[in-house]
Amino acid sequence: MDNLVIEGGVPLHGAVRVSGAKNAALPILCATLLTDGTCTLRNVPALRDLETTAALLRFMGAETTVTPPVVTVRAGSLRRPEAPYELVKQMRASVMVLGPLLARHGRARVSLPGGCAIGARPIDQHLKGLQAMGAKITLEHGYVNAECARLRGATIPLDMATVTGTENLMMAAALARGRTQLVGAAREPEVEELARVLNKMGARIDGAGTDVIHIEGVDHLHPMDHAIIPDRIEAGTFLVAAAATGGDVLVEGVVPEHLEPLAARLRQAGVELTREETGLRVRGEGGRSLRAVDLSTAPHPGFPTDMQAQFMALMTAVQGTSVVTEAVFENRFMHVPELVRMGAEIEVRGRAAVVTGGTKLSGATVMATDLRASACLVIAGLLAEGSTEILRVYHLDRGYEALEKKLQPLGARIRRVRGGA
Ligand code: EPZ
Repeated sequence: MDNLVIEGGVPLHGAVRVSGAKNAALPILCATLLTDGTCTLRNVPALRDLETTAALLRFMGAETTVTPPVVTVRAGSLRRPEAPYELVKQMRASVMVLGPLLARHGRARVSLPGGCAIGARPIDQHLKGLQAMGAKITLEHGYVNAECARLRGATIPLDMATVTGTENLMMAAALARGRTQLVGAAREPEVEELARVLNKMGARIDGAGTDVIHIEGVDHLHPMDHAIIPDRIEAGTFLVAAAATGGDVLVEGVVPEHLEPLAARLRQAGVELTREETGLRVRGEGGRSLRAVDLSTAPHPGFPTDMQAQFMALMTAVQGTSVVTEAVFENRFMHVPELVRMGAEIEVRGRAAVVTGGTKLSGATVMATDLRASACLVIAGLLAEGSTEILRVYHLDRGYEALEKKLQPLGARIRRVRGGA
């Protein structure tokens, strides 16, 4: 397993371009199951999760080619409408094949994802919605067995704004008979992007991006050729890293509106963040010149939970005390003990972490536990005095395309080493 070694204390300078959005590519790859023609996806990031999804599609019998940033899928001759445990356990987003398989093939057998590091993450809303559309669902031996000759439209109230739940149900409803309303739907840009792609395939969806999405079912969807939106979380990670280390960094190829919830908090902390022709620029003296802000994560357009860990790394360096509340997942503070090992002063009280800023982090050997916690530790390493070694960076590689290769041109002293344990 690889490690990353970082020598901290260097302000970042230069320009970096973000890759396509992982959390847009994953549902859109599942949507290729809704048609039997060849779909072409562009601007797809070279990430482990995309490889896993392609492996899952191949397992089912779809023909896929993965030559990042282009991926093609032809799901014409599906053999097995099934997602096995060994693939779903690697990536819980695999449950998003459930809706498309049911909609197009009338049946699906998908492993329950099980919990993950950041929480239980059940899929009850996904299943409740499919049942409302007429699917017969049984759970046995750790698998969801679902069948329905033809799904029918329904009004589905969601108990919480689940992102992949909204996406799964939108894909199922696209080929259902009649009209579906998803009430209390997730509003993330990646949900809007999926609706855009489904409409390109002939679906009739409106309201995506709001909390009520209307889907008029159709009988057939055709293939698409689509370039996906840039990754707002990767972009946000670079913005926070630049704010923390100081310097002058232009993050290119972003959609500024997608970053507004984060940008508002960065400006509140005193970060000089400006919009330019090709992206967003951060200039500054680094964490010590900034001030603490409180935040609570929330579904879009609230502050993204996927940026909570990275932002906390910044808050260790600013003047003052900030309260960071994780209101989306029940266990997304695993980066805290690692930051404390680097000298941060953070006290977790239930869903809130109280961060006493103004500390100078010192480099240490730390362990990555999940994707965004890994990104947090990279930022902490860039901030810290001395050398930091981050173990188990396979977590990081799930969501960032060779992050060290994007940081090196900005002046970061970061390198990948083939690790032991
Ligand atoms: C998506 O996960 C993202 N993944 C996550 O990104 C992101 O953190 C999350 O949305 C929240 O924004 C993808 O898009 C592939 P949820 P998802 O369903 O859909 C509860 C990353 O770092 N819930 O919106 O799984 C759930 O337990 C990843 O890129 C139910 O109770 O998240 C959680 O507490 C991590 N029942 C909350 O809702 C359900 O049926 C939000 O989960 C579904 C969800």
